[in-house]
Amino acid sequence: MAVLDIVTVGDPRLRQRSRPVRQITPKILRLIDDMIDTMYEREGVGLAAVQVGELLRLIVIEVPEDEKIPDSGKLYMVINPEIVKISRQTEVGREGCLSVPGYVGEVERATEVVVRGVDVRGKPLRLRLKGYVARVFQHEIDHCEGVLYIDKLTAPDRIWEVRPGDEEKVEAQEAAEAAVAA
Ligand code: CO
Repeated sequence: MAVLDIVTVGDPRLRQRSRPVRQITPKILRLIDDMIDTMYEREGVGLAAVQVGELLRLIVIEVPEDEKIPDSGKLYMVINPEIVKISRQTEVGREGCLSVPGYVGEVERATEVVVRGVDVRGKPLRLRLKGYVARVFQHEIDHCEGVLYIDKLTAPDRIWEVRPGDEEKVEAQEAAEAAVAA
């Protein structure tokens, strides 16, 4: 168990495609554990392996439990995640990223996705997700392709500064929006 350093924007690894995990080894399981520790420590809602410097298709996600957010309060660990279905319906929302410290930006995402992958025991997974949790999955799976949310802003100026560490806090996002509106 360890908290790992986060790779930040400017590091070329964030722009590379991650490779599939071929075998679930003890090393892979330890990496997943460390990613979870890192996500909790940094108060992120998700993390892709590339963000800790490993170019492997591996994501962890946990959105703190909130009765208004479907599928929140669950820890997801997905090996080789892949979006196999995506809704035509989209919604605009704000996102932050531990690899883009100090900012939140507005991105349009599908409201529902179906994600396929493998769990830590090697069993196939199929998850149907909606709303904010679907957004986080799209964000993390983009990381596996070398894509960042800042590539997908609804407009170049729909990005705001926040205090470092507050990238993923809704209150900060609302405060940022209020600041822009003022
Ligand atoms: Co991110």
